[in-house]
Amino acid sequence: MAATSVNAEALKESPIPEVVQPQASKQTIDPYNVQGEVGADGVVKAIDYKKLVEEFGTKLIDEELLARFERVTGKKPHRFLRRGIVFSHREFEVILDRYEKGEPFFLYTGRGPSSDAIHIGHTVPFTFTKWLQDVFDVPLVIMLTDDEKYLFSEKRTIEEVMGYCNSNVKDIIAVGFDPAKTFIFSDFEFMGGAFYKNCVRISKHITLNQARAIFGFNESSNIGRIHFGAIQGASSFANSFPFIFGDDEKKTCAIPALIPCAIDQDPYFRMTRDVASRIKFAKPSMIHAKFLDALQGPGTKMSASIDESAIFMKDTPSQIKNKINKYAFSGGKVSQEEHRAQGGRTDVDVSFQYLRFFLEDDDELERIRQEYESGKMLTGELKAICIKELQQYVGEFQELRHKVDDETVKLFMSERPLKWVGNPHAPRV
Ligand code: TRP
Repeated sequence: MAATSVNAEALKESPIPEVVQPQASKQTIDPYNVQGEVGADGVVKAIDYKKLVEEFGTKLIDEELLARFERVTGKKPHRFLRRGIVFSHREFEVILDRYEKGEPFFLYTGRGPSSDAIHIGHTVPFTFTKWLQDVFDVPLVIMLTDDEKYLFSEKRTIEEVMGYCNSNVKDIIAVGFDPAKTFIFSDFEFMGGAFYKNCVRISKHITLNQARAIFGFNESSNIGRIHFGAIQGASSFANSFPFIFGDDEKKTCAIPALIPCAIDQDPYFRMTRDVASRIKFAKPSMIHAKFLDALQGPGTKMSASIDESAIFMKDTPSQIKNKINKYAFSGGKVSQEEHRAQGGRTDVDVSFQYLRFFLEDDDELERIRQEYESGKMLTGELKAICIKELQQYVGEFQELRHKVDDETVKLFMSERPLKWVGNPHAPRV
């Protein structure tokens, strides 16, 4: 089931088969496929993140880096960092160096508007980005890749993806971004000027062979797909946004981005970093998140088009309750006696995994882990805690979402100067 849903979204060069049978295959993670290894039995395994870090050549975030983060910012690392959910990076230390010295940098993230149903998994990188914006007090640009979602689908029309943008932007705003420091844009609307110059600077420095090697394109790939990486990469350069950073390109091309993203986006920015060093622009740094499992368990990923796979941000409290009770994969034992005697497995239990993502209190999480693993806590009790936590998370989001109107969207999407302070304790530069 899960393999089908992931593959349906995948990069397709020839007509899309309606149903893709899971076949034994290696783990594939790239911007168009997120799929754990599939065994000979057709069962999808959990994603092996350690292997991914080795393959991609990124670095694991370790205790030392987190300690430095805390020293430099004076802030306790976010629960995603403490729990290894945001787990990998490329040159995050460069950003900490700059923050320490009061040198400018900015945040860049994005979303592909593929539907107007966003789920709790989609909020993970945005929640983290909002926290980074609060901690660092720097400008943030958010790209909506409506062009990408048109180019990488056989069916969607331009009108359809542009329509999703409006509701997606409202959802993003409801995560709590500061309008004084945030610029949100759609590729279709923003293309041109300084931004387009950077797209072309990047595309000029990537050969067809490189694009094929990085993204797996072939002779039947439409050329829009081949070019798209240059567009996603171009927002990594501050001189794409003269209304935020000023017109002096000699200065602004030296201001790096920090890009919080899910690890599947790394190929775009690996490529951008390579081009950046050749054109003497600042290389973007990255900080990577893991994926949130679908309700069906490890090795599956929430799908916007499968209602039973995910908790959606528009779900009601009773829908959340029903979904967790009915679908959330349990790490508990079959019978109560067995569970009491042997305990449950928190590493595969979906309710526990969701608590790891969304429950703030470390001591409470540890208590739940111990009680569930020892058999003291039953699956029903664990699910009840998870339901309560998610109802609260989704409820708070909905409260903010109701307040976001078209005027607010216009404000966030208008090209305007932003206001920020950066590190208040750094020497002014
Ligand atoms: N390609 C991403 C998606 O499909 C959207 C995106 C654009 C993005 N720029 C980004 C994501 C930067 C993270 C960081 O969702």
